[in-house]
Parts: sequence; structure tokens; C-alpha cells
Amino acid sequence: MSGISKRYPGVVALNDVSLTVMPGEVVALLGENGAGKSTMMKILGGVVQPDSGVVTIGGTPAKPASPAAASKLGIAFVHQELSVLDNLDVAGNINLGREPSKLGMLDVPAMHAIASKATKRVGLDIHPTTPLSNLPIAHRQLIEIARALAQDAKILILDEPTSSLTPTETATLLDLIRELKSQGVAIVYITHRLGEVTAVADRAVVLRDGHNAGELAKTELTHDRMVATMVGRNISGDNSYVPRTPGEVILDVKDLTTLRHPMGKASFTLRAGEIVGMAGLVGAGRTELAEALFGITPAVTGTISLSGIPLSITSAQVAIANRLYLVPEDRRHHGLVVSLSIRENISLPDLANMQSGGLVNRAKEARVTQERANALTVKAPSVEMAAANLSGGNQQKVVLARWLALSPKVMIFDEPTRGIDVGAKDEIYKLIRALAADDVAVLVISSDMEEVLRISDRVLVLRNGEVTGSIPRCDATEESILRLAVHHD
Ligand SMILES: Nc1ncnc2c1ncn2[C@@H]1O[C@H](COP(=O)(O)OP(=O)(O)OP(=O)(O)O)[C@@H](O)[C@H]1O
Ligand SMILES: [Mg+2]
Repeated sequence: MSGISKRYPGVVALNDVSLTVMPGEVVALLGENGAGKSTMMKILGGVVQPDSGVVTIGGTPAKPASPAAASKLGIAFVHQELSVLDNLDVAGNINLGREPSKLGMLDVPAMHAIASKATKRVGLDIHPTTPLSNLPIAHRQLIEIARALAQDAKILILDEPTSSLTPTETATLLDLIRELKSQGVAIVYITHRLGEVTAVADRAVVLRDGHNAGELAKTELTHDRMVATMVGRNISGDNSYVPRTPGEVILDVKDLTTLRHPMGKASFTLRAGEIVGMAGLVGAGRTELAEALFGITPAVTGTISLSGIPLSITSAQVAIANRLYLVPEDRRHHGLVVSLSIRENISLPDLANMQSGGLVNRAKEARVTQERANALTVKAPSVEMAAANLSGGNQQKVVLARWLALSPKVMIFDEPTRGIDVGAKDEIYKLIRALAADDVAVLVISSDMEEVLRISDRVLVLRNGEVTGSIPRCDATEESILRLAVHHD
């Protein structure tokens, strides 16, 4: 790809950007949120048309005019925002647009065979007729990857494929990438998890504000070099841990069970001013637990007490009325109204505070939302822009910005930094610490082990819906957590 430019109203997403990938090479495409990574790959994938610039594949100029055309050119694309369809089953999704037929009919056995083979490759043991709507987000992400693999592509684009995967699944995917590389596939890998870049990439191309900001050879792929090239400045290292003294117990959960894990009883407490991390493998029931606490899918049995008072959280309204909030994992389904503006998304739950005389005070609303967007470094020409047009990481920031000003008592974050770049991650950790300093009890569910170890005062481990341990910060290591997360017979 050479000299690629793409402009949107008020934003130059890409300005004369170039990128090459060789067969059998893994090139990491790095950059902060909004740097232009996804846009660059959408152009290669035929999703978006560039204003100028050329794409050449195997020496031949190519114009991927649509995703179908890109697929014909041998390009497979794993999107940052899941594009799998909830109303189809696993086989339907994996074969979508390439359904095998026999005598003019859909060849269902062949579809199932293709799906089984592809899901096995990503380490997923799942029946081809399983509806997608039944699957947790991490499994949907694996299906998305399996679909791309089933295409036998020459060029594979992976846009943050591991953002909701745990270390085990990530390791499986990285092995698979090495295998495809040895088969001569050219791979572009976008991620904010820099450890993965060091582990699997041969080279990195770095974008900053829509420009090429530099290239790093394999030996230069250290954390510090990557960050410095991405950010163009040194990130302040004020992230050293300051021990906190937690206050009284705010949330007390006893023997809580959920529909998905009727046998696993979760018991734990959260104290005022405490940041508790929650680790576990995919399927351990962390999101279900969070959704039970927030009343989305109420708990089946067990008790939840807030400041010593038992509560029956039968809906999210009850949770919100008691100042218990959840920032959900799946921002597109539960977090963000993409058709609304950034301003509307941020002020949505807070409109009551922005009224005067029964009318929303627009000036106040605009000022407050702008302040919150700035605090989280949301990158957009204006808060009036539709949330749909934000980069993935910036959408996540808008979701966070919404809840932070509501003076919560308990704040639950489900994968808060999913898809967020290193600099902005620090901003989010600062906000989480500020909440704790305000005596909020904070629970952070995260698949990112580094994150759990970095921010938690204490780590809870969940396995099959049961809290199998509570590890104080001083004893928390990757090993001590995994030992409790994995089942030993
Ligand atoms: N359809 C659109 N309309 C308007 N602006 C857009 C549109 N798509 C992308 N942009 C803007 O282009 C810029 C680059 O976005 P892009 O999605 O490529 O970033 P990214 O590097 O993938 O970021 P992230 O790490 O957050 O995923 C951003 O400022 C974004 O808001
Ligand atoms: Mg992106």
C-alpha cells in the first residue's frame, strides 16, 4: 500500500501512509487510538475507499472495491468490532458468503465439516449448530478468527483479535499465526498488547495521527521503543503503586449462583476505597457475575448486601438506584448508542443533573461532556460527532466517561481497557484510582493479566462461577492466579 490518504469531515484519518508486507511475514501495525490503523486495513479489506494512493498485491495494482472483491483477491479480515451475526449458527457464520452447494442446494454436511475444522484450529470445541447469540464475546471473537482462517487467504488482517481473549487463548492464536506464517501467509497484526508484538511480529509499522511515524525491526520491538515511537514522547511513569487502606465492607456477596453456573457459588466482599481485580479463564462466569450484580440477568440464588442491607437486584434500575454501576464488556450491544453523538452518549444517564427549570441546559451539557471527553483524551473533531465514527478505542472511552461522574458506591468494570492504547490506559487507571480515593468500591474484571497485577489491591479468581481464591496484592503473580483459575483433577 503506498501513499494512501483518507479524509473524513473534520479528520484526516490517513495522510500519505505506506505499508508493505511480504509472504510469510508478520507486520505489526501500531499506533494510539485514532491513529488510523483500522482505516488503513479497511482500505485493504475493501470496506472503505481511499481518496488517493495505490494498493499492489503480488506486483499487480489492485482496487479492493468491496469486502467480497477483497476476499477474491485472497484477503481475509478479522474486524476489531465483531462482525459475526447473532442470528446465524456457528457453521452459518464461518461459511458466510462462501456457502458450499451441491446440485444447487446448500451443502449442510460440508458446511459443518468446514466449521468444525476451523473452530478446532482456534482451540474451540463447539458444535456447528450452536447459535452465536448463546456464545460469550470471547468465543464470538474466536469464531470471527475461524471464519477468516477458513478462507485460505494469502493476506490475513487481524485487527485486535485478542482484545477479549485470556492468556491461554491468546497463546493458541499466536501459535496459529506462526503456523500460517510458515505457510507463507502475509499477516498484518493490530494490537495494543505490546507483549504480543514482541512475541510474534517480524517488524512493526507505526502510525501517529494518520502519518507513518516510523518502522521498527524485530530487534527493536521492545516495549519502550514501541511506546516512544507511537506516542512521540515519553509517557509519565506516575503509575507506581501506592498502598491504600480500605474502609468498611460495601458489597457483600454470598453464595451467588447464575443461570450459566448453577453449581458455582460465588462469595466475596468489596470494601470502600478498594480496587479488586477479578481474573479467570474464558467461561469462568465473570461477565455473568457482573450482570447478576447489575441486575441484567438477576442471580438465581444467593444474597447481595450493600452497606449491610440485603438487596434484591431484579433489574438494572434497582442497581442504579443504589449507585451500583457496571461498565459492560460489549460496548456495541450494551454500552454505546452508536447513532447518537458523543455528547448525547456521555450525558445520557446524567440528564437529570443537567436540567434547569425542567429543560436540559444545553450549554452546561456541552461544557460538562466536553470536559469529560477531554479528561479521557477522546479523539474527535467535536463532541457532536456520531459515536459510530469514532475509532474503537475512543468508543470505549466514551462509554467510560458516561459513568464516572455519577458518584457511584460500587463500580464494576468489565474489561475496561479493551482496545485502549497504552497512553489512554494510564488515564483510565488514574480514573479508577481516583474513584477508589473517593471511597468507591471498585471491581475490575480483566483478561489482561498485566493489568490485573498492576492495578489490584487484591485479586479474586473465579472458576466455574465459584470464587476460588482472594489473593492479596503482595502474593498475586501470574502463577498464583492461574493455579486457582485452572481446574486440577
Ligand atoms: N466513518 C468515519 N467518519 C468519520 N471519522 C472517521 C470514520 N472512521 C474513522 N474515522 C476517524 O478516523 C480516525 C482514525 O480512525 P481508526 O479507526 O482508523 O483508528 P485506529 O488507529 O484503528 O484506532 P483504535 O486503536 O482506537 O482502534 C479517527 O479519528 C476516527 O474518528
Ligand atoms: Mg481500530
